Amino acid sequence: MTTASRNLESVQATETFGAEIGRRLRIGDTVALRGTLGAGKTTLARGIMHGLGFDAEVPSPSFAIVQQYEPPETRLPIAHVDFYRIEDPREIVELGLDEILQFGAMIAEWPEHHPDFPWTNGLQIEMKIKPDDTRLLTWQAGPAWKDRWPPT
Ligand SMILES: Nc1ncnc2c1ncn2[C@@H]1O[C@H](COP(=O)(O)OP(=O)(O)OP(=O)(O)O)[C@@H](O)[C@H]1O
Ligand SMILES: [Mg+2]
Repeated sequence: MTTASRNLESVQATETFGAEIGRRLRIGDTVALRGTLGAGKTTLARGIMHGLGFDAEVPSPSFAIVQQYEPPETRLPIAHVDFYRIEDPREIVELGLDEILQFGAMIAEWPEHHPDFPWTNGLQIEMKIKPDDTRLLTWQAGPAWKDRWPPT
């Protein structure tokens, strides 16, 4: 498990960092995005989507809970999930995450609302709002990311 952090000075820097992740993403991967409201999780997810080749607007999944994308719009099938509004674990079963990860990858906001999931196998990212309004991003890359991470 490798841990490191970097400062993201702007929305653009966050999206560029996300795109680095998107270019490296493989089927079965999970990217867990932690951080308070407005920390920049959806902004980072937009960058990941662009790195996967998606060139249209990426809506926040906070109301839909899951947004799914497939080739040819993206390089591989991807689900962008926001667990914020999940209150009952039975709602998670209905999302069909196992099947999603069999064929594609998953970006997850508010993974702490799904604590039973093995997030440590994937890439885990935490974003913090600094007093100057830039963002501090910390990552932990699990075994599945060996030889793929960090970005150079
Ligand atoms: N360096 C930065 N990276 C990301 N967002 C930034 C940055 N600086 C300022 N922002 C602003 O912070 C906000 C981040 O919003 P975003 O929707 O990405 O947060 P979120 O973590 O997904 O929130 P939520 O928990 O509500 O889903 C945006 O308004 C964005 O413009
Ligand atoms: Mg969000």
